[in-house]
Amino acid sequence: MKKISLLLLLAVFSTAQGFAQQKKAVPAAQQQMDTFISTLMSKMTIDEKIGQLNLPSSGDITTGQANSANISKNIREGQVGGLFNIKGVDKIRAVQKIAVENSRMKIPLLFGMDVVHGYHTVFPIPLGLSSTWDMAAIKKSARIAAVEASASGINWTFAPMVDIARDPRWGRVSEGSGEDPYLGSQIAKAMVTGFQGRLQANNEILACVKHYALYGAAEAGRDYNPGDMSRVKMFNEYLPPYKAAIDAGSASIMASFNEVEGIPATASKWLMTDILRNQWGFKGFVVTDYTGIPEMIDHGMGDLQAVSALALNAGVDMDMVGDGFVGTLKKSLAEKKVTLAQINNACRLILEAKYKLGLFTDPYKFCDPSRPAKEVFTPENRQAAREIAAESFVLLKNKNNVLPLKKSGTIGLIGPLMDNTANMFGTWSVAAMPDIADKSITVLQGLKNVLGTNATILTARGSNFLADANLENRYVNIHNPTYKHDSRPEAEMIKEAVEVAKKSDVVVAVMGEGSEFSGESSSVTNIEIPETQKNLLKELAKTGKPIVLVLFTGRPLALKWEEENIPAILNVWFPGSEAGNSIADVLFGEVNPSGKLTATFPQNIGQIPFYYAHKNTGRPLAEGKWFTKFRSNYLDVSNDPLYPFGYGLSYTTFGFSDIKLSSNTLSKGKSITATVTLTNTGKYDGKEVVQLYIRDMVASITRPVKELKGFQKVNLKAGESKQVSFTLTEEDLKFYNSDLKFVAEPGDFKLFIGANSRDVKQADFKLTK
Ligand code: BGC
Repeated sequence: MKKISLLLLLAVFSTAQGFAQQKKAVPAAQQQMDTFISTLMSKMTIDEKIGQLNLPSSGDITTGQANSANISKNIREGQVGGLFNIKGVDKIRAVQKIAVENSRMKIPLLFGMDVVHGYHTVFPIPLGLSSTWDMAAIKKSARIAAVEASASGINWTFAPMVDIARDPRWGRVSEGSGEDPYLGSQIAKAMVTGFQGRLQANNEILACVKHYALYGAAEAGRDYNPGDMSRVKMFNEYLPPYKAAIDAGSASIMASFNEVEGIPATASKWLMTDILRNQWGFKGFVVTDYTGIPEMIDHGMGDLQAVSALALNAGVDMDMVGDGFVGTLKKSLAEKKVTLAQINNACRLILEAKYKLGLFTDPYKFCDPSRPAKEVFTPENRQAAREIAAESFVLLKNKNNVLPLKKSGTIGLIGPLMDNTANMFGTWSVAAMPDIADKSITVLQGLKNVLGTNATILTARGSNFLADANLENRYVNIHNPTYKHDSRPEAEMIKEAVEVAKKSDVVVAVMGEGSEFSGESSSVTNIEIPETQKNLLKELAKTGKPIVLVLFTGRPLALKWEEENIPAILNVWFPGSEAGNSIADVLFGEVNPSGKLTATFPQNIGQIPFYYAHKNTGRPLAEGKWFTKFRSNYLDVSNDPLYPFGYGLSYTTFGFSDIKLSSNTLSKGKSITATVTLTNTGKYDGKEVVQLYIRDMVASITRPVKELKGFQKVNLKAGESKQVSFTLTEEDLKFYNSDLKFVAEPGDFKLFIGANSRDVKQADFKLTK
């Protein structure tokens, strides 16, 4: 008995000590925040608490269907926690004034917007940004976006989008960083830290990593479709970028529209609480995607009250546009379908975000009307956009060194994108469209800027995006009001273009997709250059003139014919505000291209989903073979991609030495270093992205044939050599096993270093116990 009570006493003592230590560990600033919010919440009614969980859209910009009416009235009545799609610092200031002067609790609002790849200064689409493989450049683009957005009243961006995407039919492949979880994680971190900084200055805004989870795995590439997969695949291949964003401190996260394992993500307690909060330790708030809660009615999860309760129970804190929380949570509380603790917790998380932003100290912190003129669309920001865009271009082909072009002679500039102001930005440029669409630099303008009077430029539109005006209208979409279909017959347009080509020394054909061919709700089943443009390209090729295809696209395309018939292909994605200038910089060799693909380009659509980090299968095809009966392959096309992950050419060439390993064994707590000598073997200074991959040869679950584990972008003068080293530890070899434990398993590994995922040098090492 005595013994028991002594033990009890000891236990109580040590727990008390634990609490004391824990308490001591809470920093003073956090305690201050907790006290402030507790005091505030003690005065709030239940309606006001639920009001904080409501995020209506103002309707300035259309990013979805429904909008809440009576927004000012609702703000006055404490029914709104934040507002989005409202544009302009004066407007935002006026709305904030209603919240802090005319509502009972005077709680400031969050102001959100999809500032995805720039505000007024538009950077390349995220898929383009990722192709820079330059984390400093990506971070800088996010920083500038945050500065411009915050100068315009925005304190929360719905970015970064980090969904792994391996199916180019899915239009939103353009909004993310491609197919690879490692690269995607690095980029997630760069963007979150770029947007948020230390969340102190008035140009540091909340990030919102999205769309959690697996949104990019939509079946058949059709937007909003389910993405079903094993948990092992989720944890190893799809979840890492979300986790990386959380680890980097993302203040919020957005639930995705799709279902995961039969439950819409918005109602998934497993995703929103078990993984996000309990495993990853997320401390910020969860917002739904646009009408994500009422959409669960169509998913077949119940009526608005039922699905709203499901979302709150799962761990969602804020309802974007759905009117589900404001409309039903009070009733659900009375009926014990949700608890007061859940509502309090969600409300506290929203208030914490506002507190961390400094809105309780100064609700107008982001509403300084003098800032936009000084900080938005500045020459410095545009210069950064120009440089970063040029770095995002991927030179896919350059036979006989057609590129760089000489700054003389006659250049035939042809194609629907050669002078097309409205289509330089790409998708998700809601902040810039349509306000400053006419300020984007077209290809024609850029060529003129760089060439001056040194060369003659002849132009012809040559084709529309699509021959059918009605169909084209569907693609060109609401955000592009200035685009006009050319009503001339296809043959007439092509004839005019061919005349221009014949008079030119070189043809620059600017074609591909329009801005809204990719992005949300822009899935396709054909990923080739549209037929009417291809017809034009074929006729241009017949002239025998050297042709440079400047390709605009928001997704990997199938370019087999182009690869076989066009000597030079420069993929420019959607470069943004400075499109024309950056394209001219690269075409004329002011900048040597250094972009590398972050998503595999297939030979044809039948190969997708296609990604380099695939499994070997039990019947792999021998290397260099096309077809062997009873091996894993196709009858009609080889297993090769057209352009592999990590691929991209330069105007110079690079040589890789063999790999030197510091040791052939890696033991726990130790590291090994892999070194190659990289030599610029060509005539131009240039940058190479040196990529490190590994393969775990024997493991408790099957592992990919290659996995990216490191990369460095190295700048070398012509003729220069440099040693490039990577250090690996056991940590780099870890993966989630079938128990979802993150482990490294001893055994044989291969290590590869090269210029892309295909062309690599190889070495072997062992992980020992
Ligand atoms: C998109 C999100 C976006 C939201 C708000 C949704 O339709 O899926 O990516 O942040 O709208 O505009």
